[in-house]
Amino acid sequence: MQTKQENTSNLLKSTVQVMAVLAMMSVSFGASAKDVKKDATPFSRKGADQCVMCHTDEHIMTVLETPHGATGDSRAPFGEGQAQCEACHGPGGEHTGRVKRGEERPPMIKFGSDRPTPVPEQNAMCLGCHESHLGSDWEGSPHNSQDIACADCHQLHVRNDPMTVPQEQPERCYTCHTAQRAASFKPFSHPLRFEQMACSQCHNPHGSQADALLVRDNTNQLCYSCHADKRGPFLWEHAPVAEDCTSCHEPHGSVHTAMLKKRPPQLCQQCHSQAGHPSSAYTQAGVAQGTTSAMVMAGSCMNCHTEVHGSNHPSGQALMR
Ligand code: HEC
Ligand code: HEC
Ligand code: HEC
Ligand code: HEC
Ligand code: HEC
Ligand code: HEC
Ligand code: HEC
Ligand code: HEC
Ligand code: HEC
Ligand code: HEC
Repeated sequence: MQTKQENTSNLLKSTVQVMAVLAMMSVSFGASAKDVKKDATPFSRKGADQCVMCHTDEHIMTVLETPHGATGDSRAPFGEGQAQCEACHGPGGEHTGRVKRGEERPPMIKFGSDRPTPVPEQNAMCLGCHESHLGSDWEGSPHNSQDIACADCHQLHVRNDPMTVPQEQPERCYTCHTAQRAASFKPFSHPLRFEQMACSQCHNPHGSQADALLVRDNTNQLCYSCHADKRGPFLWEHAPVAEDCTSCHEPHGSVHTAMLKKRPPQLCQQCHSQAGHPSSAYTQAGVAQGTTSAMVMAGSCMNCHTEVHGSNHPSGQALMR
C-alpha cells in the first residue's frame, strides 16, 4: 500500500484543482459563491490508508492494478502529489470523520447515472484529467447530452475495464441499446456475438462529427475500411452501393442472408419497378399464365445479376458478370 504523499504544496495543488472543478460545476448550476464554499469540503487526513480501513472489500483495492493506480505516473490518482481515492470520489474529510449516532455519514461521490450524485458532477471529476483525451466532440455528443455517466460504460475497480475488452463491451452497451442486442441475435450479423468485434470498431461513444457516432466520415467510408473490395472504382457502378450500403444492409444484424434489409426480390423491387424487363411479380397472381417468371425464379434477382455491388467486366452493365 502506498502511503499518502505528505508534500503539502502538491496536495494543495490537487485540492485547488478539485475546488476549481467544483466551482465550475456550481457556476453552471447557478449556485452562489456561498454554496461553492460550503461544497469545498476538506480532504481526509491520511488518504487511501484511511479509506481502506473501512472499505475492506477486496475489489476496491483492484484500482491499484490499473493505470489509475500507477504510483510512478504523476498524472494518475495514485501518482505523487495526487489525491488518491479522493481524486475521483471527492474530498473525504467529513466522510472519514466521526459520525454521531443517528446521523448520516456525509456522502462521497458515487458513480453511475443510477446513483444520487448528479451526472455532471461525476463526469467533471473524470474530465478534470481526461478532457484532452476526449476532445471537443464529447461536449455535444448524444451520450453527454443525455446525461450518461462515464461510469455507465467504464468500470475502474476491475483489472480490465470492459470497454477495452471485445468480449465484454457490447454487453455493457446493450444494457441501454436493447434493439442492437436483439439484432445481434439474428441469424446474420457482424460477429459481435462471437466476441470477435466491438461496437467501438464502428462507433466512437465519446462523440464524432459523423452521424450515429461513426468512427469514419460516413457510413460507406466506414464499411470500406473493412470491406475494401466494395469500394471500387467499378466500370459499371450500381448507384445505391456507392451511395449508402445501408440501403440494402442492416449493420447490426438481420434474419436475411448477408444482413439484407429485405429478401430479394423485394429488396430490389423497392427501387426497380415493373418497367423494363423483369416482372416484379413474385406471387402467382402477378404473373401471366400463372407460371413464375424466370426473372424471379428462386426468389432471387441475383441468379442473373450476380455483381450487385458493381462490375468491372467490359459487358457488365447489367451487373451480370
Ligand atoms: C470510518 C469508516 C469509513 C471511512 C474511513 C471511509 N468510509 Fe466510505 N463509507 C463508509 C460507510 C459506512 C459507507 C456507507 C454509507 C454511505 O453510503 O454513506 C461509505 C460509503 C462510501 C461510498 C459510497 C459507496 C456506494 O454505495 O457507492 C464511497 C464511494 C466511499 N465511501 C468512499 C470512501 C473514500 C474514498 C474514503 C477515503 C477518503 C472513505 N470512503 C472512507 C465508511 C467509511
Ligand atoms: C487524477 C487524474 C485522473 C482522474 C481523476 C481520472 N483519471 Fe482516468 N486516467 C488517468 C491517467 C493518468 C490514465 C493513464 C493514461 C495513459 O496511460 O495514457 C488514466 C486512464 C484511464 C482510462 C484508460 C484505462 C485503460 O485501461 O487503458 C480510462 C477508461 C479512464 N482513465 C477513465 C476515467 C474515468 C471514467 C474517471 C472518473 C471516474 C477517471 N478516469 C478519472 C488519470 C485520471
Ligand atoms: C457510451 C460508453 C462510454 C462513455 C459514456 C464514456 N466512454 Fe470512455 N471509452 C469508451 C470505449 C468503448 C472506449 C474504448 C475505445 C477504443 O477501444 O477505441 C473508451 C475509452 C476511454 C479512454 C481511453 C482511451 C482514450 O480515448 O484515450 C478514456 C481515458 C476514457 N474512455 C474516458 C472517458 C471519460 C472521462 C468519460 C466521461 C466523460 C467517458 N470515457 C465516457 C466508452 C465510453
Ligand atoms: C479513477 C477514479 C477512481 C479512483 C482512484 C477510485 N475510485 Fe472508487 N469508484 C470509481 C468508480 C467509477 C466507481 C463505480 C464502480 C466502478 O466503476 O467499478 C467506484 C466505486 C467505488 C465504491 C462503491 C461501489 C463498490 O464497488 O463497492 C467504493 C466504496 C469506492 N469506489 C471506494 C474507493 C476507494 C476506497 C478508493 C481508493 C482506494 C477508490 N474508490 C478509488 C472511481 C474511482
Ligand atoms: C459494422 C459496424 C457497426 C457495428 C459493429 C455496430 N454498429 Fe451501430 N451503427 C452502425 C451504422 C452504420 C449505423 C447508422 C446507420 C443505420 O443503422 O442505419 C449505426 C447506428 C447505431 C445506433 C443509432 C440508432 C440507429 O439504429 O440508427 C445505435 C444506438 C448503435 N448503432 C449502437 C450500436 C451498438 C450498441 C453496437 C455494439 C453492440 C453497435 N452499434 C455496433 C454500424 C455499426
Ligand atoms: C446508460 C445507457 C447507455 C449506455 C451504457 C450506452 N448508451 Fe449509447 N446512447 C444512450 C442514449 C440515452 C443515447 C441517445 C439516444 C437518442 O438520442 O435516441 C445513446 C445514443 C447512442 C448512439 C446513437 C447516436 C446518434 O447520433 O443517433 C450510438 C451509436 C450509441 N449510443 C452507441 C453506444 C455504444 C457503442 C455503447 C457502448 C460502448 C453505448 N452506446 C452505451 C445510452 C447509453
Ligand atoms: C471493423 C471491420 C468491419 C467494418 C467497419 C464493417 N464490417 Fe462487415 N464484416 C466484418 C467482419 C469481420 C465480417 C464477418 C467475417 C466474414 O465473414 O468476412 C463482416 C461481414 C459482413 C457481411 C456479411 C455477413 C454475412 O452474413 O455473410 C456484410 C453484408 C457486411 N459485413 C456488411 C458491412 C457493412 C454494410 C458495413 C458498414 C456499415 C460493414 N460491414 C462494416 C468487418 C467489418
Ligand atoms: C443494392 C443493394 C446492395 C447495396 C447497396 C449493397 N449491397 Fe452488399 N450485398 C447485397 C446483396 C444482395 C448481397 C448478397 C449477395 C449474394 O447473396 O450473392 C450482398 C452481400 C454483401 C457482402 C457479403 C458477401 C460478399 O460479397 O462479400 C458484403 C461484405 C457486402 N454485401 C458489403 C456491402 C458494402 C460494404 C456495401 C456498401 C459499399 C454494400 N454491400 C452495398 C446487396 C447490396
Ligand atoms: C435503393 C434503390 C435500389 C435498390 C434497393 C436496388 N437498386 Fe438496382 N439500381 C438502382 C439505381 C438508382 C440504378 C441506376 C439506374 C439508372 O442508371 O438508370 C440501378 C441499376 C441497376 C442495374 C443496372 C441497370 C442498367 O443501367 O443497366 C441492375 C441490373 C440493377 N440495378 C439490379 C438490382 C438488383 C438485382 C437489386 C437487388 C439486389 C437492386 N438493383 C437493388 C437502385 C436500386
Ligand atoms: C433470368 C435472368 C434474370 C433474372 C432472374 C433477373 N434479370 Fe434483370 N436482367 C436480365 C438481363 C438478361 C438483362 C439485360 C436486358 C437487356 O439488356 O435488355 C437484365 C436487365 C435488368 C435491368 C436493367 C434495366 C432494364 O430494365 O433493362 C434491371 C434494373 C434489372 N434487370 C433488374 C432485375 C431485378 C430487380 C430482378 C429481380 C426481380 C432481375 N433483374 C432478375 C436477366 C435477369
